[in-house]
Amino acid sequence: MKTPKSFEVVDQIKAAVTKACKRDVVSCADILAIAARDSVAILGGKQYWYQVLLGRRDSRFASRDAANTNLPPPFFNFSQLIKNFKSHGLNLKDLVVLSGGHTIGFSKCTNFRNRIYNDTNIDKKFAANLQKTCPQIGGDNNLAPFDSTPNKVDTSFYKLFKGDGSQSDRLVQLYSKNSYAFAYDFGVSMIKMGNLKPLTGKKGEIRCNCRKVNKI
Ligand code: HEM
Repeated sequence: MKTPKSFEVVDQIKAAVTKACKRDVVSCADILAIAARDSVAILGGKQYWYQVLLGRRDSRFASRDAANTNLPPPFFNFSQLIKNFKSHGLNLKDLVVLSGGHTIGFSKCTNFRNRIYNDTNIDKKFAANLQKTCPQIGGDNNLAPFDSTPNKVDTSFYKLFKGDGSQSDRLVQLYSKNSYAFAYDFGVSMIKMGNLKPLTGKKGEIRCNCRKVNKI
């Protein structure tokens, strides 16, 4: 199986940190938290830098079921997303600002096909454009960028929206116009999300290889 390039990048960071410290003292969880922050600051600029709290330890196991139970799937509607975030102690503002994480990256056709053919509350031009990349049948793995600048951390993700005056719309409007507000609030919510039940003290371990748990 082809491994994603990001796995190799994490392997390289881990090797460099272990070499510098002469032993395994930095967890893979901390490496990922820092790598996420630095990627955002590199692709968006200094204003997107935030302080990452460190000292997480790595899990002794991995669970596909736990991931599927906790992470919201692409077909969730707005109220389901609010409920999911709430179950993790994250509020509406966290939801709106962290969704802005999609200012970079791409999505596979299978994940958004239903939206562009069946959703009624969607900009018609936007949907028609995506339908070219994502036909009703076939092209399942075709990729579409989330916004017009998929390699840049910016606020264009928030530009296309149809407001109804709700609290979330007001936040979307603010972030679409004010990149400093987005950058600041994004950092605050990333820190909050990064602090959800971290393993500390004697819990978990410091992995030697980020791809697998240590042998004991
Ligand atoms: C609100 C709940 C969320 C849902 C339902 C969601 C859903 C998705 C989906 C369906 C994809 C496309 C995956 C693919 O087709 O391969 C994706 C990609 C992505 N998500 Fe999210 N996501 C959520 C929250 C977040 C958060 C909180 C962040 C970061 C702050 C984030 C950052 C990203 C990035 C960077 C990608 C692009 C990955 C790539 O291009 O390889 N997402 N997300």
